[in-house]
Amino acid sequence: MCGIVGFVGKSKQAKDVLLEGLTRLEYRGYDSAGIAVSDGDRINVVRRLGKVRRLVESIGETDCLGTCGIGHTRWATHGAPSERNAHPHMSCADEIAVVHNGIIENFAELREELEGKGHVFSSDTDTEVAAHLVEEAYDGDLLTAVRYATSRMIGAYGLAVMCKEEPGRIVVTRKDSPIVLGVGEEGSYLGSDIVALIDATRDVVILEDEQYAVMTADGIDYFDREGAPIEPEITHIDWTLDAAEKGGYPDFMLKEIHEQPRVVRDTLAGRFSGTEITIDELSLTRTELNFIDRVYIIACGTSYHAGLIAKDLIEGWARIPTEVEVASEFRYRNPIITPTTLVVAVSQSGETADTLAAIRDARIKGAKVFGITNVIGSRVARESDGVIYTKANKEISVASTKSFTGQVVSLTLLAMLLARSRGKFNQNQTRILFSELADCADAIEQVLQDTEQIKDAASVFEGRESAFFIGRGMGAATCYEGALKLKEISYVHAEAYAAGEMKHGPIALIDEGFPVVAVATQSPIYDKVVSNLKESESRGASIVAVATEGDTSICDVADKVIYIPKVRDAFMPIVASVPLQLLAREVAVARGCDVDQPRNLAKSVTVE
Ligand code: AGP
Repeated sequence: MCGIVGFVGKSKQAKDVLLEGLTRLEYRGYDSAGIAVSDGDRINVVRRLGKVRRLVESIGETDCLGTCGIGHTRWATHGAPSERNAHPHMSCADEIAVVHNGIIENFAELREELEGKGHVFSSDTDTEVAAHLVEEAYDGDLLTAVRYATSRMIGAYGLAVMCKEEPGRIVVTRKDSPIVLGVGEEGSYLGSDIVALIDATRDVVILEDEQYAVMTADGIDYFDREGAPIEPEITHIDWTLDAAEKGGYPDFMLKEIHEQPRVVRDTLAGRFSGTEITIDELSLTRTELNFIDRVYIIACGTSYHAGLIAKDLIEGWARIPTEVEVASEFRYRNPIITPTTLVVAVSQSGETADTLAAIRDARIKGAKVFGITNVIGSRVARESDGVIYTKANKEISVASTKSFTGQVVSLTLLAMLLARSRGKFNQNQTRILFSELADCADAIEQVLQDTEQIKDAASVFEGRESAFFIGRGMGAATCYEGALKLKEISYVHAEAYAAGEMKHGPIALIDEGFPVVAVATQSPIYDKVVSNLKESESRGASIVAVATEGDTSICDVADKVIYIPKVRDAFMPIVASVPLQLLAREVAVARGCDVDQPRNLAKSVTVE
């Protein structure tokens, strides 16, 4: 949700590092931003409502000078977006500065207790209690005071704390909220995400829950929850900063959409031995694989939609009953889980609180949990029995695109593996399927080359505030994702339905010009989709059909057609999702929306 950064150096100005880091972390939240920098005598704080750009514009050359500081970009939870609720938060005497990502669940009791002791609060946030708790406990050693504060806090936190009395020192800790640290030539760095420090170093420490780090200009020391020194594990990062830059595209979303052929290729690299699908990370023997009698796919948002597509593949190919569940519901529903259940947790960020809670619940109930995530060292990766990385690389745009493709491809591999292990495919069939899956990269490339048809289709949305997305089978699952993309970045209300459901209610909304987007590619149920489209067309709908190239008869029912290359029906969602992403973006741009940072959203949702 929020993004936090920190820097301690010898000569480099902290504000430059902090503002650069916050700009890179802005995808995590953009309601307000602020920095606190120690000049040796006092801690100077600047906070602004709105995006990081407003903060950057308001800090002059001579403001916030100093080589030690912390910063924050906020996605509001407790307390409305406002300057008063922006981080960093200060203690009563302005001696302790705190930035925080997460939620302090018992903040109300703590606040009451602290107010009883005379502390005066100046915001509505949960975070501010941390500053006052540290102030209350401070007796000359910031680490000890922070350890006391966290021992009183219930909830999730990534926390960085500075103290006026200890200039040049930042104490950092975490619980269920990511913190990455590293030492570069100019000093010590901290971020909620590797992108904040990748300029400075490729060797990072992913802090574990309830560990502490003390940053100084000379390096970083690590401690366990009892305060005993520990040796951290270093993770080497092999991707480059290009992922955090637009590379000539007008926005990250378009750049990331265009990366999808590479994502397909990279996700498949090394996954076929010539005879078998190889997912060694699953760490299950063939016998264990064969004992799996139920699969649960748990995820949220776009990742959930990737799961819906996989359900058809796993059930269709491997014949294993598969449920796809929204993670926030799964954990409160007492699902049927046994030791022969395979739970597949899908999360781009690997941080989503609901998905993590569902993983923990499933493991307690005895299931094997397999994670599919895009972020190395993320909690989903660490808390699963095995993990497959989607190779999308850093995804900055809040609307997921390339990570979705990586997820669908990874889940397709899993479905193939399960089917093969049960003898449903022979070697030759596996080889053919893998080869056709790999061909999807070329098919996406072809879609990306002809975007005129998508621009033309977007005109159907002019002046419209609502739309339907309809399809059948995997086309319906593809539509759920298409509708989410449109909603989240253009603010056009969009609902997706299995096309056969339209006549059971939704069709009442259709009037002249109502946009209906259909996935109507060649499949055994193509004719059924077309007749559902006719029902809408005859009521005046403006129909945009995503169809298979060469299908001229679709023009009889559709006002606009977006053609995609022919691929096997099982792989259609991988290709058909791309024009839907482009269509959503086209509509959003036409409406003047910020496609990378849609209102009210954040890239990773670390609160329940
Ligand atoms: C999709 O465009 C959204 N950003 C959102 O639905 C997202 O997929 C969801 O929050 C899940 O995130 P995760 O994959 O990081 O767990």
